[in-house]
Amino acid sequence: MLVHVLFAAVLAVGSAQTPANTFPDGFLFGCATAAYQVEGAWNEDGKGESIWDHMLHEHPEYGNNGDNGDVTCDSYHKYKEDVQMLKAINADVYRFSISWSRILPTGDIDVINQPGIDYYNNLINELLDNGIQPVVTMYHWDLPQALQYLGGWPNGLIADYFVEYARVLFDNFGDRVKWWITFNEPGVFVSGYAEVGTAAPSQPAPGIGDYLAIHTLLRAHGRVYRLYDQQYRATQNGSVGITLNIQNIEPASNSTEDLEAVDRYMQFEDGIFAHPIFSEDGDYPAVVRQRVDANSEAEGRPRSRLPTFTQEEIEYLRGSADFFGLNHYRTYYAAAGETGPVPSKRRDSGAYTISSNENNPAGLRKILNWITAEYPGYPIFVTENGYGDSGGLNDTGRVEYLTNYLSALLEAINTDGVEVLGYTMWTLMDNMEWTSGFSIKMGLYEVDFDSVNKTRTPRLSAYAMSEIFESKQLPVLN
Ligand SMILES: *[C@@H]1O[C@H](CO)[C@@H](O)[C@H](O)[C@H]1NC(C)=O
Ligand SMILES: *[C@@H]1O[C@H](CO)[C@@H](O)[C@H](O)[C@H]1NC(C)=O
Ligand SMILES: *[C@@H]1O[C@H](CO)[C@@H](O)[C@H](O)[C@H]1NC(C)=O
Ligand SMILES: *[C@@H]1O[C@H](CO)[C@@H](O)[C@H](O)[C@H]1NC(C)=O
Repeated sequence: MLVHVLFAAVLAVGSAQTPANTFPDGFLFGCATAAYQVEGAWNEDGKGESIWDHMLHEHPEYGNNGDNGDVTCDSYHKYKEDVQMLKAINADVYRFSISWSRILPTGDIDVINQPGIDYYNNLINELLDNGIQPVVTMYHWDLPQALQYLGGWPNGLIADYFVEYARVLFDNFGDRVKWWITFNEPGVFVSGYAEVGTAAPSQPAPGIGDYLAIHTLLRAHGRVYRLYDQQYRATQNGSVGITLNIQNIEPASNSTEDLEAVDRYMQFEDGIFAHPIFSEDGDYPAVVRQRVDANSEAEGRPRSRLPTFTQEEIEYLRGSADFFGLNHYRTYYAAAGETGPVPSKRRDSGAYTISSNENNPAGLRKILNWITAEYPGYPIFVTENGYGDSGGLNDTGRVEYLTNYLSALLEAINTDGVEVLGYTMWTLMDNMEWTSGFSIKMGLYEVDFDSVNKTRTPRLSAYAMSEIFESKQLPVLN
């Protein structure tokens, strides 16, 4: 455990312990990372190229200053150090992702790369030996490039490949992994099939490619859940969910138009994924179905740009989760209006956000309540929440952000009665933040990317979290 004299002194000031500042028994604390952002070793030991490797090698200008994930934190070689860092902050769980192309370099099961299997076995065993449970994301944005050459997610057949990949993961790791997340933030990665330069593979097909990708990944998710149900749950007894990024949306004004825009915006950003899986009726939200169908027809198309589920698909998707994974960072303001290219998901939604980046802890409490009201019956796992700055060890801004958001989370649990299973903050250590590269720092640990050993140093926030994760209580700060 980390001991930090200054922070311990702060804690001692407010020593009141009330149920109101205590997390429930069994609440799971930890950190989250993603393979491309921390592993490095992008082409080592048989790993295949991913769409992020490919995009940032071919188009470094889509990233920041030529940054890419070739080496980054070098966790492929330093995972034991990562586990010791988690242990030092008293983490119960570690949420990491598996690189599909490290396990299956061609994306298919014709080649199973044993060193890739070995790497994740070593990481999982090291975690368990240190009393930390793995929470595994199957897909955190790094599709094998070999499958992108087949069109990637807009190609419905990619669902078959994902099911086979999931089977390899359950077969090899399911005896020890009890928490599975099929997809991380599909709302973000499908933008890679709508526009250039925000997410791989940067295919500019707005309002078509993104809807096709959504349709495929939802089918893939549902099938993997049913696969687990039918062939693994009885022996492995784990939980399978999906993680959506849901920000808090407030109206830009109190006009009826803007108030309605908030709901439409959320249905197009969040409901489009959540409704088929978590609602009682299943299928896409009615407002999404109706607006995309109407716009497609007005454009003179013979079919809707948003594909239709078969009845069988609606049924296997409905209820296909044991928990609701939530990534939440901030509050945006939405207004009514047609913006964005013709066609595009944004234009279909008739809503847009006009400002961003507002930290607002109450927004997390609001979204936890929104999920519970909209999709009752599913416990929530907060799988990401975190704070970016430009660096430095005395990260008082991050400590304040995390403490305030955890306080709002506790109010949702203790006052509102929302069921929350755990909280894995983003992120354990500074890493390759996608197109922002190494310019933004989000870690409890600083990483010196210029050093040979990618030296990690705990920040003030690491000490703060080590106290909270151990005591399962928020400090009462004066
Ligand atoms: C399965 O896991 C749950 C907790 O997730 C536990 O309560 C139950 O006893 C387990 N069942 C078996 C058969 O291991
Ligand atoms: C909308 O009305 C509420 C309640 O009167 C008020 O608190 C809020 O500031 C208003 N919002 C805007 C954007 O004007
Ligand atoms: C850390 O920053 C805070 C506020 O910015 C300041 O009050 C404090 O003195 C700093 N602590 C150290 C050790 O530099
Ligand atoms: C890097 O780590 C290795 C192995 O722990 C150590 O022997 C070496 O001195 C370190 N190098 C630097 C520059 O810190």
